Amino acid sequence: MAKTLPPSGLTTWRGPHTGRCQDRRGLPFGSSSVQHGTAVFEGIRAYASCTGETALFRAEDHLTRLLESARILGIRHDLDHALLLDEVVRAASEYGEPNCYVRPGLFATDPYLSIDLGRLSFTLGIEVWPMPAHTPETAPPGARLTVSPWHRPSPLSFPPRAKAVGTYVTSALAKTAAVDAGFDDALQLDPHSGRIAEATTSNVFIVRDWTLFTPWLTDSLLAGITRDTVITLAHELGLAIHEGPVDMEDLESAEEMFLTGTASELQPVASIDDRALPKEHPVFDMISAAFQAAVTGTRFTRQRWLTPVPTSTQVSY
Ligand SMILES: Cc1ncc(COP(=O)(O)O)c(C=O)c1O
Repeated sequence: MAKTLPPSGLTTWRGPHTGRCQDRRGLPFGSSSVQHGTAVFEGIRAYASCTGETALFRAEDHLTRLLESARILGIRHDLDHALLLDEVVRAASEYGEPNCYVRPGLFATDPYLSIDLGRLSFTLGIEVWPMPAHTPETAPPGARLTVSPWHRPSPLSFPPRAKAVGTYVTSALAKTAAVDAGFDDALQLDPHSGRIAEATTSNVFIVRDWTLFTPWLTDSLLAGITRDTVITLAHELGLAIHEGPVDMEDLESAEEMFLTGTASELQPVASIDDRALPKEHPVFDMISAAFQAAVTGTRFTRQRWLTPVPTSTQVSY
């Protein structure tokens, strides 16, 4: 099974004051980040742009969220936004292939047995995986979803806005059970309202009457950057969009539904449990075309979302 999954292409650790530090490919097993999931991370896509260059998509927004996740958890570090951006660009450049997925994270790299994060020192690690961009031919088929009995973590237990390693156990639980039951993924509910929150690693949109609806951030979900991209593009395309409560009844009446996430991009939903959604999804197709134009730099209004990645010979170390 694991053989069908692509291994990563690059691991790099950056010292407290930038520059490469010792290769920590073997993060100590005793690290609190390994033992307790006490780390924060981001996933950023790089694409071959229409000019033939490589560009990271919304890297600045991802790094803002990384710093916010670290702040929420009380992780102390001496990295700022500019330095993080610099390191992420360097890692993508060093990797050298245009279509990839870059994961910067702040990890406790010493083998100290503590969950008092103020006593641990965190280092920036960046992992890069190959990740071909979807084309109409290679786009994944519609996702077959179920509704998971495992709810999202309560915001009273953990702030959903923080993208922290430990919280992914909940996603893993729901995803694994869904796949074992013959589905591709699961929708998870907000633990207090019982409304739809998100899928295990993506946000959710439904479409009714040419209007988009997506769960509001009041419920327990990650404020996805791709979610924000879709909202922005929908406004630009003149489509009505509502962020608000989305409940099971809304799923019943959905004419289209789709998932959004950096790694999975935009994916239509084919069915929820035994209810098939229509095979035609004109609103999804419209948004998807605008999204592809944005990530490849052909959507003029959104070029500021792209951060160019110089070739490795242009980068000085
Ligand atoms: C739980 C969860 N929700 C939503 C998303 C989508 O977020 P983004 O669009 O920022 O990748 C992710 C992506 O990793 C996720 O893990």
